[in-house]
Amino acid sequence: MTLKKLVVGNWKMNGHKSDLPELRAISDVASQQNNADVAICVPATLIEPAVNAVSSMAIGAQDCHANENGAHTGCLSAAMIAECDAQYIIVGHSERREDQGESNVDVKAKAIAAMGANMHAILCVGESEAQRDSGNAVTIVVEQLLESLPDIRNDFDGTNLSIAYEPIWAIGTGRIPSLDDVAEMHLAIRHALVEYYGDAGHNIHILYGGSMNGSNAHDLMKIANVDGGLVGGASLSAEKFAPVIAAA
Ligand code: 13P
Repeated sequence: MTLKKLVVGNWKMNGHKSDLPELRAISDVASQQNNADVAICVPATLIEPAVNAVSSMAIGAQDCHANENGAHTGCLSAAMIAECDAQYIIVGHSERREDQGESNVDVKAKAIAAMGANMHAILCVGESEAQRDSGNAVTIVVEQLLESLPDIRNDFDGTNLSIAYEPIWAIGTGRIPSLDDVAEMHLAIRHALVEYYGDAGHNIHILYGGSMNGSNAHDLMKIANVDGGLVGGASLSAEKFAPVIAAA
């Protein structure tokens, strides 16, 4: 089954109100592209201004708290993000797993919270360079995935969950795995999703992330089970993001 491609920019801790015209320019590029859904996950401060600034793409957040409310200084609940009309929430990005010590259990709870607020959760998994070198990357990533997946199966059709496979050593480095390694990993993730969710597992987008750019996006997105991309640096300007969107 071929899913409509989903191309998501992750602006990480980049972006000020002065960048809203750039978001508008990316939205204009997205408006000319019917073959892919496009979204940008912006810093929390930009969610509402971005939603109001763009018309042809979705806006997302980069994290949420697992709880609905309470004494969690500095955190945002999924419902608060939904209230700003964002549509996506990234959970379990490797930078948060590393910097904030988020575990698979935390990530699972955040994914459940995001989906419970009627948002689309983008759940990130990926191996370190040492794990890749050990030859066990597929086993390690599938295990990480199975421990992070929301265990909600009733009525779940797979449309409000995506998985982003982001090898940690490929993020921001300009290096990507071989196309064969990407194909092997995405197939293993697909099998795990179908085993876990049944047929709904076929509807879940599996995005590739890690140094995706205008030069490699075409080759990456041609691979079976690569249903789009999660793009950092190359999503920061319309000029760099346009060829990635076009490749989809
Ligand atoms: P880069 O595209 O900058 O490597 O970042 C990938 C990423 O971490 C997206 O979430």
